[in-house]
Amino acid sequence: MAKRNIVLRGDEILRKSSREVTEFNEKLWVLLDDMAETMYAQDGVGLAAVQVGILRRVVVVDTGEQLYELINPEIIEESGSQTGGEGCLSFPDEYGQVTRPMKVTVRAQDRNGREFTVEGEELLARAFCHEIDHLNGRLFVDLVEDEEPAPRSRRKHR
Ligand code: NI
Repeated sequence: MAKRNIVLRGDEILRKSSREVTEFNEKLWVLLDDMAETMYAQDGVGLAAVQVGILRRVVVVDTGEQLYELINPEIIEESGSQTGGEGCLSFPDEYGQVTRPMKVTVRAQDRNGREFTVEGEELLARAFCHEIDHLNGRLFVDLVEDEEPAPRSRRKHR
């Protein structure tokens, strides 16, 4: 595994839509492993492939319980709403209140191409939404309701 460089604000790639993954091969597995290592090294709770410069629909999320690898993820159900602090590893100095669904169901494929669904609530729902937005070139800064100083802990960055 190897850490990768994180693309930062201002880089146009963050605004691009990522392409579907069709090949579930060694190259994908290396990318997933590198993305997880990069996320953990930065104390993030999620990372999308575009944030390491790869325009593929690949996301990793870990809010503290387990690592989720989501390939070609889609939100198929959402309910409720929550407003809370959010950040992004690509925007290390920005933080703000963002409203997201309280609960989402995501359909995705695993690293071998098998389809599965996963439910997330609260922080996990927020992380899924934030990362899936990245795959469509949508950034949390578009959604921030009122900006506030970044917390000392980077734990909420993703
Ligand atoms: Ni982000």
